[in-house]
Amino acid sequence: MIAIFPGSFDPVTLGHHDIIQRAAPLFSKLIVAVLHNPAKNPLFTVNERVDMLQHLVKDIPNVEVAEYTGLLAGFAREKNAKYLVRSLRSEADCAYEMPMAQANSKLGTDLETVVFFAAPAYIYLSSGMVREVAAVGYTSDFDDTVLDQWVPAAVKAMLRMKLASTKQ
Ligand code: COA
Repeated sequence: MIAIFPGSFDPVTLGHHDIIQRAAPLFSKLIVAVLHNPAKNPLFTVNERVDMLQHLVKDIPNVEVAEYTGLLAGFAREKNAKYLVRSLRSEADCAYEMPMAQANSKLGTDLETVVFFAAPAYIYLSSGMVREVAAVGYTSDFDDTVLDQWVPAAVKAMLRMKLASTKQ
């Protein structure tokens, strides 16, 4: 019962953390996997994203963090994982996830996608929204306590450092 929770995690949010906490007890091992996806023009490097995830899951014994390139189905095969974990915030997510689940089940033998409905507190949240608010906010007079409801404290500190350094 090994599962993979894949994504860009740029950065990981409290919405992702909620999914990790709910999914971990259902599997013997949950691998949170960061995709190398240059197409998304990431704010954080893969190493930074892996570090923030490792910090976040350090107290959940059956969760590990990894990175991958190429096809998710190939990575799942390599890790002997039969399940993918994804989250749905809306109908739009459903329309996006259904073909991806079908494709992954064709690409990987017996690869099942298990979906979790996002908690109501996080249905509007995305990493992109966090990136945008933080990027614009840190260039002006910004009360960054707003970020506390969206990202873990360590991620907020990394956002502040990253965006302060890119301003120069
Ligand atoms: N809480 C907060 N945010 C959530 C969320 C939740 N519960 N659920 C989804 N999201 C957001 C993410 O923050 C992200 O926001 P962003 O686009 O603003 O950064 C967005 O939903 C979806 O991103 P993500 O989960 O990172 O998925 P993705 O669409 O970037 O990539 C992969 C999906 C990584 C699984 C997929 O592209 C992949 O593995 N590709 C590799 C190649 C491959 O195998 N292709 C064939 C697949 S059919």
